[in-house]
Amino acid sequence: MGDAGVVTGVSVAVVADRIAAVGPPNEIDRAYPTAERVDCAGRVLTPGFVDSHTHAIFGKPRYEEQELRASGLDYMEIARRGGGIHASVRDLRGRSEADLLDLALPRLRRLAAHGVTTVEVKSGYGLTPEDELKSLRVIQRLAEILPMRLIPTWLGAHEIPLEYRNVPEGRSEYVRLLVSTMLPGVASGRLARFADVFCEPGVFTIDETRTILTAARAAGLGLKLHADELRPSGGAELAAEIGATSADHLAAISESGIRVLAASTTVATLLPGTMLFLGKEKQAPARALVDAGAAVALATDFNPGTSPTTNFPLIMTLGVSQLRLTVAEAMIAATVNGAAALSLADQVGQITPGFSADLALFDARDVRELPYWYGDQRCVGTWVRGRACHQSTETL
Ligand code: NIG
Ligand code: FE
Repeated sequence: MGDAGVVTGVSVAVVADRIAAVGPPNEIDRAYPTAERVDCAGRVLTPGFVDSHTHAIFGKPRYEEQELRASGLDYMEIARRGGGIHASVRDLRGRSEADLLDLALPRLRRLAAHGVTTVEVKSGYGLTPEDELKSLRVIQRLAEILPMRLIPTWLGAHEIPLEYRNVPEGRSEYVRLLVSTMLPGVASGRLARFADVFCEPGVFTIDETRTILTAARAAGLGLKLHADELRPSGGAELAAEIGATSADHLAAISESGIRVLAASTTVATLLPGTMLFLGKEKQAPARALVDAGAAVALATDFNPGTSPTTNFPLIMTLGVSQLRLTVAEAMIAATVNGAAALSLADQVGQITPGFSADLALFDARDVRELPYWYGDQRCVGTWVRGRACHQSTETL
């Protein structure tokens, strides 16, 4: 992760949807004399960012909770009172697919405007078979409309819905519903590439998470976990044990969790925007993870409750200033390792011949400016599969 492979004074050739060559401008000019040209004018061109963790299918924003937290009410306490995820669930259940599509489109376009070309999108605010399938169909429709690459994840295990709480056997009944009804519907409709579980004290236990993800693997889905987000519970250890593609959050990961993740192929996806927005002082031990040899990715966690931002470079700022990554490590976390967190490491996240021509251009001369101008909007263009996706009106 220490070497992002930054080069200067080169041109990039794209043929159809792929990177064909990277080299000195005169050589590329000679090899592709009739190619259409885009003059990047000495600015920074990166692989399009891979945002490997978002909850972008939701209805109304939850700004009232921000002040509640500021006044001393904890995130989990708000959830216990029926707010938090439950509030988004109540809201999403009342909305049509068309409505959710209209809300999600501009939100995802904002991510593209910040340099993101691949985005993982989770369901998880439906929590009934019908409403989870509705959310996943919205993602499918978005993938048809938008040039970005969308990777759908089924997160039916985002919360125990209120109607299953405080009733005898409610928890086990909901887990049964997930495994026996929802999962077969998701798998037979080919509506998700991954399954995810919010594995956290007060939400899903380690044993429940193992049951759900084991069934998901048997149904052909890749595995992800919200692990050790707020309190340590062995989520990272479970992720490594079951061979999850990624373990996400990890702000409360244990020492043993760091060791087993580092020794595994599971990507440690860190979401520093979430801890910042929740007003937590703690951040994931990124340095310890990288130094132990774990593959660390950065993502926005874009969602209405804990991380309502689409500003991907701001997450890189937090990666450097809060998680103490180097700029090279933050770049790898945003590209190569984000791709690995979606099992796409051989296709996206690198400006390398054969890779998909997913690119982002920034109004910057040095890659270190990307995390430096924090909160700024420096992306002036993105391309996905060689086609323009976002173009800023001023500079291209
Ligand atoms: O990643 N931790 C669980 N899920 C989201 C938050 C969802 C919400 O509060 O709406 C997260 O932080
Ligand atoms: Fe999340």
